[in-house]
Amino acid sequence: MKILAFESSCDETACAVVEDGRRILSDAITSQIESHARFGGVVPEIASRAHTEAITTVCDRALAEAGITLGDVDAVAVTAYPGLIGALLVGVNFAKSLAASLSLPLIPVNHIEGHIAAAYLAHPDLAPPFLAMVMSGGHTSIIEVRDYTEFRLIGATRDDAAGEAFDKAARVLGIPYPGGKEMDRLARTGDQNAVPFPPAIIRESRYDLSFSGLKTAVINFAHHCGQTGIDLPRADLAASFTKAVCEGICSRLKNALADLPEKTLVLGGGVAANSHIRAAVGKLCEEEGVDLKLLPLSLCGDNGAMIGAQGYYNFQASITAGPDLNADATSPFSYHT
Ligand code: KG4
Ligand code: ZN
Repeated sequence: MKILAFESSCDETACAVVEDGRRILSDAITSQIESHARFGGVVPEIASRAHTEAITTVCDRALAEAGITLGDVDAVAVTAYPGLIGALLVGVNFAKSLAASLSLPLIPVNHIEGHIAAAYLAHPDLAPPFLAMVMSGGHTSIIEVRDYTEFRLIGATRDDAAGEAFDKAARVLGIPYPGGKEMDRLARTGDQNAVPFPPAIIRESRYDLSFSGLKTAVINFAHHCGQTGIDLPRADLAASFTKAVCEGICSRLKNALADLPEKTLVLGGGVAANSHIRAAVGKLCEEEGVDLKLLPLSLCGDNGAMIGAQGYYNFQASITAGPDLNADATSPFSYHT
């Protein structure tokens, strides 16, 4: 079954062709980062406009790279939630029109479930149940994947997302948006014990995280350096910040792995590309005897293929939609608690 899948929830316009939920035939993507960088973050109105301008071309590219035409497509999948509402609507309306005009099934996909499903593309033998942690610019959650379309939220950030924290810390260091990747590089040359930052956790919970205290600590440290005329130790700050993030993530995962039966862990989302987090979680999983499924960097950030993967399993579970499908900025989750 060939699914044409669209993703437009934030600042990437993406379209892919995925076969049977597991094989990427094409994965076209257009990033808008340059349009947003000078504002220091994603500007929703600019994002919607850029999606509108890019979506037809990205769709054509996905079909061409897969070597197919619209006549070969069996179903259309689209990210319907959560995300920026204006951005989501571009993908949803495009997918709706395409499905209606071709008389094809329309499959709504939850973006976070898509980030998890990216692992099916990288690991052919992976099947639920397993534990997943999704870390992105908008979300940071630990999720029990009970089945392909059955999820249970275990823990989450109570405030900022991990990617947001990286981007805000990066801004303090003068790194343009989105700064996560550059923070990753900078942290490699710094001393992670130079600045004692609080780990990114909620102490009274076993699974929840918090990044706002850490973010404030980074800002305060930078102010202190400015006021006392000390040069900002950029690499040390990046390394110490990253250590606090890694400690937070590992402490939550350690608790979840101890309390739940799953012995396989998937890391997804843009922040799952971070080399320090990958190494720290890798060490934890080795100690705990857990099979860690990492993703290639191309499947960590937003992409269309992950929507095609989850779309396939949604279709198998009869999760389809009609022309009344609407986008939703929040997550009317198929999470079952
Ligand atoms: O999943 P994603 O592409 O989009 C959302 O769904 O939000 O994640 C984007 C986030 C950004 O905050 C970006 O700075 C962060 O992922 N990111 C990283 C790295 N690469 C991307 N954060 C830390 N280390 C990285 N190597
Ligand atoms: Zn994402």
